[in-house]
Amino acid sequence: MGTRQAFMGAVLTNPLRVGLRQERVIPPQCLVIFGASGDLTHRKLVPALFELFRQRRLPSEFAVLGCARRPWSDEDFRGKMAEAMAQEVAEHRVAWEQFAAGLFYEPVDLEDPPSVVRLGQRLEAIDRLRATRGNRTFYLSVSPNFYGSGCRSLAAAGLLSDPSRSRVVIEKPFGRDYGSAQELNRVVQTLFVL
Ligand SMILES: NC(=O)c1ccc[n+]([C@@H]2O[C@H](COP(=O)([O-])OP(=O)(O)OC[C@H]3O[C@@H](n4cnc5c(N)ncnc54)[C@H](OP(=O)(O)O)[C@@H]3O)[C@@H](O)[C@H]2O)c1
Repeated sequence: MGTRQAFMGAVLTNPLRVGLRQERVIPPQCLVIFGASGDLTHRKLVPALFELFRQRRLPSEFAVLGCARRPWSDEDFRGKMAEAMAQEVAEHRVAWEQFAAGLFYEPVDLEDPPSVVRLGQRLEAIDRLRATRGNRTFYLSVSPNFYGSGCRSLAAAGLLSDPSRSRVVIEKPFGRDYGSAQELNRVVQTLFVL
């Protein structure tokens, strides 16, 4: 048994879940990954999401919208992810086709406000297509230099205006030191005023 299979077995027999009648499934939503062409996305994020999909832990009203500056299409993004996960895809071909139908890509430069506004329009189209109900999680898998400015760009485009439906995930490292971490915390808090 490979390390990965052993790990999956451990997850499926988690003693803390024994006796629970229902698995926890997240609400309908679109997960927007900034840095979709980067290392973390193809090595960790999309493989983890595919695993959750195979375990039926994702709702059917779910989509992943990959974003980065390069001008990929939806098909390019699906193809790149499939290439990076060739073994899993070959072993679970039907599941992959179903999962990949919910993968999309939009070229967005976090430093270019019009492209972030276009992102909002694309998200509305995905809401209609996948019934994701305006719930969005923005995952910043980009250089830490963009964490503060990226949050500001999203807010300026009106994409964080409803805190009950918008979330931002910030990858580590959260700041370079205590001072810069406090500053980033301050930026994030001012953008999510309830
Ligand atoms: N890789 C890991 O295993 C790992 C582990 C822990 C934490 N992290 C953290 O996760 C983050 C991502 O790491 P990574 O290794 O995936 O980095 P990476 O391979 O360098 O990817 C960076 C991504 O950011 C995109 N990007 C750059 N400028 C952009 C802009 N202005 N607007 C939108 N997208 C932009 C790039 O695509 P384009 O060039 O097409 O724009 C690329 O997709 C970093 O903060 C890193 O510290 C990574």
